[in-house]
Amino acid sequence: MPDYGTVSYIMYMYSEVSCWYNISHMKEPWKSGKEMVKMRKMTEANLNSAYAGESMAHMRYSIFADVAEAEGKPNIAKLFRAISFAERVHATNHYREVGAINSSVQNLQVAIDGETYEVEEMYPAYKAVAELQGEKGAFRSADWAWKAEQIHASMYQKAKQAAADGRDMQLGPVFICEVCGHTVEGNAPDRCPVCQAPKTKFRKF
Ligand SMILES: [Fe+2]
Ligand SMILES: [Fe+2]
Repeated sequence: MPDYGTVSYIMYMYSEVSCWYNISHMKEPWKSGKEMVKMRKMTEANLNSAYAGESMAHMRYSIFADVAEAEGKPNIAKLFRAISFAERVHATNHYREVGAINSSVQNLQVAIDGETYEVEEMYPAYKAVAELQGEKGAFRSADWAWKAEQIHASMYQKAKQAAADGRDMQLGPVFICEVCGHTVEGNAPDRCPVCQAPKTKFRKF
């Protein structure tokens, strides 16, 4: 027979200790980075996982909103867009809590690293697998992204140089192909050089 008196005493002590530990650990985590105590690993992993999930939901609902719009259901589209924004708020909060939001110089380096990884490792590998398995749609999708990411990496490089000098970058209008994501600064081409979509398919930023 277990001794319930001892067991409950241990549980009580554990809750006291863990409560004290949590409070001492959380010493004003909203204060500036220097005073911040490093986040505990499991909490950090949970936040990163929640950030990934919320980010995907944000994107998914935004895409679903476009579908509802095309179906002529503007209220369903509105609901998807509104909740997509709420998921973005959640993702932003989680991302901030793990300390991943910094100045533009640092953010641009994160962007460069991400795009470079996609260009040099991720998409070449994904394309190779898609080709090996005869998955034409997946190959095309990966190839379009791979081509655009090269342009993104170099645009971010240019931006980082400006930000590192403490100024904004020089940037004309940016056009994005709605079909393949091809990215152009200046003027939209008559036809997308990557997917051949007409000029009207380019969205201006
Ligand atoms: Fe990109
Ligand atoms: Fe395109």
